[in-house]
Amino acid sequence: MKQTKEIYILGIGSYLPRRILTNAYFESRMDTTDEWIVSRTGIRERHIADDDEYTSDMATEAAKIALEDAKMSAQEIDCILVCSVTFDMAFPATACIVQKKLGHSASCPCMDIEAGCSGLIYSFEVAAGLLQLGHYKNILVIASDKLTSITDWNDRATCVLFGDGSSAFVLSTEKNGAKALLVDTLLSAEGKDAEHLLQPAGGSAMPASHETVDKRLHFLHMNGREVFKCAVRGMIAVLEKILQRNQIQPSAIRYFIPHQANLRIIESIADSVSMAMDRFIVVLQNTGNTSAGSSGIALDHAYRGGKLAKDDLLAFVTFGGGMTCASAIIRWIA
Ligand code: UT7
Repeated sequence: MKQTKEIYILGIGSYLPRRILTNAYFESRMDTTDEWIVSRTGIRERHIADDDEYTSDMATEAAKIALEDAKMSAQEIDCILVCSVTFDMAFPATACIVQKKLGHSASCPCMDIEAGCSGLIYSFEVAAGLLQLGHYKNILVIASDKLTSITDWNDRATCVLFGDGSSAFVLSTEKNGAKALLVDTLLSAEGKDAEHLLQPAGGSAMPASHETVDKRLHFLHMNGREVFKCAVRGMIAVLEKILQRNQIQPSAIRYFIPHQANLRIIESIADSVSMAMDRFIVVLQNTGNTSAGSSGIALDHAYRGGKLAKDDLLAFVTFGGGMTCASAIIRWIA
C-alpha cells in the first residue's frame, strides 16, 4: 500500500528465549543428523520457550524493547496489533493479554492478525491503514510465535525446523526520532495451496477430541516440498512487483530481509534478483524458523549489529501458511 501520509518506524525490538537446542539434541533422539539439517535448511540451533513462557510473554518482552528504542512509554500507544499462528488461546485476543502485561492502562483497541509467517508485513499494512485514517498516532505491531507448542516432536520432517521468538515495532505518523520510513507494503495469498501447511485440529472444523489428539492432528502438518515451491514462487512474485511499482532496481536495495525458514529458499530469491547472499540478512542458523516474528528478528539483529546506515533501502519478503506472501520496503533514516 502506497502511503499518502508518511508512516515512520520509531522503535524496534526482538526477543529470543534463553534455552537453546542445537542439532545435536535431535541427533540424540531421532533418525537425523546435523549434516542433513544444515545442508537442507541452514539451521544449526534454535531458541525454545519454557512451558510457562507464552506467545504473549515473548510479545511483551519484544514490545518493551521496541518502546525503549522509541523512547516511549506503553501509555503513549493507542492501538496494539499482535500477529501469530500460536496465540495464547483462541480468545481473548493475545493483543489484549499483551496490553495487560505491558501495564497499559488506557483504553485502546487491541486485536490479533493471522497471516502465517507473513503476519508482520500484513500487520504493517493494517497499522499503516489505521494511521492513515488519523484515528491513532502510535501503533504497536508485534509478531510473536511459540511454534514449538504445536510442533510434533516425533516428526523429524518438521521438528528440526522451528524455534520460538518475537519482534516488535512502534509505527507512527510522528517523524521525531524515527528509525525508518515505511515506503510501501504489498500483500498476497493463494488459498488454493492452504492445505500444504496447517494445524488440522482444534478449530471449528475439527474440534479437539481424544481422537484428534491420538492422531496427532493438533500439531503442525506440512508438505515440505510443496511449501518450498510455493514459497519460492510467491516470494519472487511479490518482490518483483513491489520493486517494479516503486521503480527500484534490486541493486538499489542495501539489504533484503527474508522470512527465515530455509537457507535454500533464500538462495533461490537471491538468484532470482541476481544479488549476492551478502545482501541478505540471515539469522536462521541461530534461530530456526520463528514464524511471524522471523523477519523482524532478522531486521533487529541487523540494526543492533550496526549494519544499517542512513538512506539504506531495505526490502522484506515473506511467506507462510495460507499460503500468504508479502513484501515491504523501508528506508532507514536514522
Ligand atoms: O514458514 C513456512 C514453513 N515451512 C517451510 O519453510 C518449509 C519449506 N520446505 C523446506 O524447507 C524443505 O522442504 C524441508 C527442509 C522441510 C525438507 O527438505 P527437502 O529437501 O524438501 O526434503 P524432502 O522432504 O524431500 O525429504 C528428503 C528425504 C526424505 O527421505 P526419502 O523419502 O528421500 O527417503 C525424508 O524422509 O529426507 C528425509 N528427511 C530427513 N532425513 C533426516 C526428512 N526430514 C529429515 C530429517 N533428517 N530431519
